[in-house]
This record gives sequence, structure tokens and C-alpha cells, in this order.
Amino acid sequence: MKKILMVCLGNICRSPAAEGFFQSFIDNENLALQVDSAATSNYHIGEQPDKRMQKSMRARGIDISHLRGRQVTKEDFEQFDFVYAMDRSNFHNLKALAERDAPGYEHKVELFLQTLHSQNSDEPLEVPDPYFGGPEGFERCVDLIERGAKALIKQQGES
Ligand code: 4NP
Repeated sequence: MKKILMVCLGNICRSPAAEGFFQSFIDNENLALQVDSAATSNYHIGEQPDKRMQKSMRARGIDISHLRGRQVTKEDFEQFDFVYAMDRSNFHNLKALAERDAPGYEHKVELFLQTLHSQNSDEPLEVPDPYFGGPEGFERCVDLIERGAKALIKQQGES
């Protein structure tokens, strides 16, 4: 069973949304995959996803209210097969963390949107941080995360 970890800065906006989409695909299509999410920072440990993100996801039929913020650990690099970073900053922090605490596992860290971007170069490589912006930023963010998650699920099915 492949295990996938979604990672952003706070684990209250982007990565819980990515986890939510993945979990709904796993449930709907009975896929042999596990998904979780975590933060590079310790800012929101134990917190529910941001209300604005809960609302945007609920509008798409996905409830993420049960998720709680947690920080990436060195065990995550050993236990997960793929560690997907939402932006380059998370990506570089994760690589550095793996190099320091879990050497040999750096290759598991990838950009979440790499697959989508590889299929269509008009798509971005990073999911912008929506935290300090308005509600339309959350909508754009969720649309992008949904497309990125679909691209990854399709790739997992083919591998
Ligand atoms: P996330 O968004 O990384 O998508 O969960 C953020 C959440 C919190 C903060 C920044 C980004 N913060 O600075 O507290």
C-alpha cells in the first residue's frame, strides 16, 4: 500500500485540502493508497483546518473538519513513499530536513504540482499560500489542488 504525505507551511489550508481530495478519490475508487498531511512549521499544531478552507472544500462536497494540524517528523520520511510539497519553500525545507534527520530519503520529496505541470506547462509548479489573502484566493487554490490531485491519482494508477 503506497503512502502519500501532503505538506505545506501550516497544515491548515493547502495540505489538508490536498489530503481531502486524495481521500475522496481513494474512497470513491477503492484505491490501495493512504494519505496524510503535515506542516513544515509548528504554528498550528492540533488546530482544525482554516474555516475558509473548510468552507471551500465543503462547497465541493468534501468535509475536512476532522483533520488536525501536525508537524512533519523524521519518521515521516521513512514511512511515506511520497512527500509532496505545496511550494518551493516547503520543498527546500523538506529536503533540508530529510538530509539532516533522515539521510537517504531526500528523493521522496517532490513538488505536488510537478505532475500536473509536466502534463501542461501552462499550469504552475506551486500552490500559492492563501492564508493572508481573500476568499477568491481559496477558490483558486482549491481548483488548482483538485487538478493537481487528479493528475497524481492518475499517475499512481498507471505506475
Ligand atoms: P498553509 O497556509 O501552509 O496552506 O496551511 C498557511 C497557514 C498559516 C500560516 C501560513 C500559511 N501562518 O503563517 O500562520
